[in-house]
Amino acid sequence: MLSAETKEIVKATKPTLEQHGLAITSRLYERLFTEHPETEQLFAGSSPGQAARLADAVLAYADNIDNIEALVPVVEQIAAKHVAAGVQPAHYDIVGTALLRSMVDVLGELDIAVIEAWSEAYGVLSSVFISTEADLAAILAMRDEAANGLTLCTGSLGAHSGNDLPAIARRFADRVHFAHLRNVAREPDGSFQEAAHLEGDTDMPAVIAELLATRRDLPFRPDHGHALLSDAGARTHPGYPLIGRLRGLAELRGVIAGLRHAAMAT
Ligand code: HEM
Repeated sequence: MLSAETKEIVKATKPTLEQHGLAITSRLYERLFTEHPETEQLFAGSSPGQAARLADAVLAYADNIDNIEALVPVVEQIAAKHVAAGVQPAHYDIVGTALLRSMVDVLGELDIAVIEAWSEAYGVLSSVFISTEADLAAILAMRDEAANGLTLCTGSLGAHSGNDLPAIARRFADRVHFAHLRNVAREPDGSFQEAAHLEGDTDMPAVIAELLATRRDLPFRPDHGHALLSDAGARTHPGYPLIGRLRGLAELRGVIAGLRHAAMAT
């Protein structure tokens, strides 16, 4: 979740991006292909104008930073192109670094707050792209050792209709260090809304059952939940209602107790 301050800084850079966006992304590709020549072949089938398309996407992101959901259809289209071209999770860091350096190349010395804000905003955007089972497998394979573990966020992964959450939990159970057990309800247009923990499109008991099948402990958080009773009007961060989360916690603990009881009985 981006802080209000980060969003404000990103929005404030819009006029600069409108003026210099194409120069920045053109420089980005120069840097990318010089510093990481292996990435050039990913663009072999690309039509001319890629730098302009990227500049438009960056500007659209800044424009919609308060309402990222509006970008879902475009992001899905771009993600499909990335998958077809063979873009890997590790490429996102490389491009992120090239983007920030290109901003400095084109715009000159930048306030550190601007660099930090764009770095954070880029991180959130790239995490939207890196969110399939294949992506997780690639990340875990980079360092195939227990210390390289996952926070399994059933909300982020559940937003993609192609993700089979129980199957993902089964496959990576021994590498999940922590679970972020939240649920989302997907809309036909690809957007999604936060749902109550046991509602929504992810079969939460099935996910928990898969995790408990391979492990005894299950550290988890019950974010986000709905705002209930005195949550309405209380001063909290969005997604962190006290009573809504307590309800989610109680429900999830109930599922865990029930599954453990059933396992002992068999
Ligand atoms: C958050 C960061 C990124 C954004 C916003 C972004 C944006 C875009 C956009 C707008 C397109 C054009 C889609 C279209 O033609 O419909 C695209 C295509 C593409 N992007 Fe990215 N991209 C990002 C990261 C990356 C990374 C990390 C790589 C890997 C080096 C990459 C490689 C490609 C490739 C190979 C294409 C396909 C070009 C084609 O087939 O025409 N992108 N991207």
